[in-house]
Amino acid sequence: MRRMRQSEAMRRLVAETRVSVDDLVAPLFVRDDIEDRVPIESMPGQFQHSRESLLVEAKHLSSLGLPALILFGVPSSKDSVGSGAFDPDGVVQRTLGDLKDALGDKIVLISDLCLDEYTDHGHCGVLDADGRVDNDATLERYQQVAVAQARAGADVVAPSGMMDGQVRAVRNALDAAGYRDVAILSYAAKYASALYGPFRDAVNVEIAGGGSRRSYQQDPRNKREAFEEVSLDIGEGADMVMVKPAMTSLDVIAAVRDLVNVPLGAYCVSGEYSMLKAASQRGWIDGPVAEVELITVVKRAGADFIVTYSAKDLAEVMN
Ligand code: PBG
Repeated sequence: MRRMRQSEAMRRLVAETRVSVDDLVAPLFVRDDIEDRVPIESMPGQFQHSRESLLVEAKHLSSLGLPALILFGVPSSKDSVGSGAFDPDGVVQRTLGDLKDALGDKIVLISDLCLDEYTDHGHCGVLDADGRVDNDATLERYQQVAVAQARAGADVVAPSGMMDGQVRAVRNALDAAGYRDVAILSYAAKYASALYGPFRDAVNVEIAGGGSRRSYQQDPRNKREAFEEVSLDIGEGADMVMVKPAMTSLDVIAAVRDLVNVPLGAYCVSGEYSMLKAASQRGWIDGPVAEVELITVVKRAGADFIVTYSAKDLAEVMN
């Protein structure tokens, strides 16, 4: 076997998996009450952007050749139903408008579609009288969010709340409002993971009463359940599906790849990024090499594209 590993050129010749800038999607955070970008402490190298700094960053990412970005909002005020998520003047809607004006179709604008950044209780949906996440009442809010994001300029909306029936609800609302061309990337198999910790810092979210998302996100002990989730979402009209987190779901990514023919994404989440950064800052691992290794194995497992906070760093070295 070692004859094929003798030189870098030989290894390049026989490599089965190749990653390129085309595989990467950059997540970005935009906050409405700041003048300039604010570093996110638990995610070194990532920022809460102002609308202005986000535009500069997005132009840079586009010039690096990244095909897509996914946008998350950090609103200054929150309420029980997450109104900021569907307010036409909400921070994500205004930013989508800025991006569409400045970049047109040069980069695909994906908008995360959820309520958790916008609710005062931090859940991904609205609550019923007993304080439980109310599935169907949440779907109506998601429909409002989808239409607001589409109207603002989103090319793709990405429902991430793991409510049952969310893809069909969003598709119906988009079609009824005349946004037939807006695509849906569903976070189809999204596990309740401790690896989302730094993200909650990034979007200033605390789940009320020390609560968790285990009543809607998937149990990491389950794999077959992911096939059910993915099949339902495709049946409801998802154009693309995503598995999340990536590093801890390689078996799920591989199996979903065999099961479906739509484009498959994987999300290398905040905790995956922060673990690598923290160890690299201590000199315990070679961070840049580890980041390339991670996206390579996620692609090897079967992902067509990878959402990663390392997208910019990777694009800079790949170009
Ligand atoms: C929900 C959402 C979350 C992430 C993406 N969309 C948070 C959650 O489910 O708690 C996590 C992303 C990450 O950790 O990088 N709006």
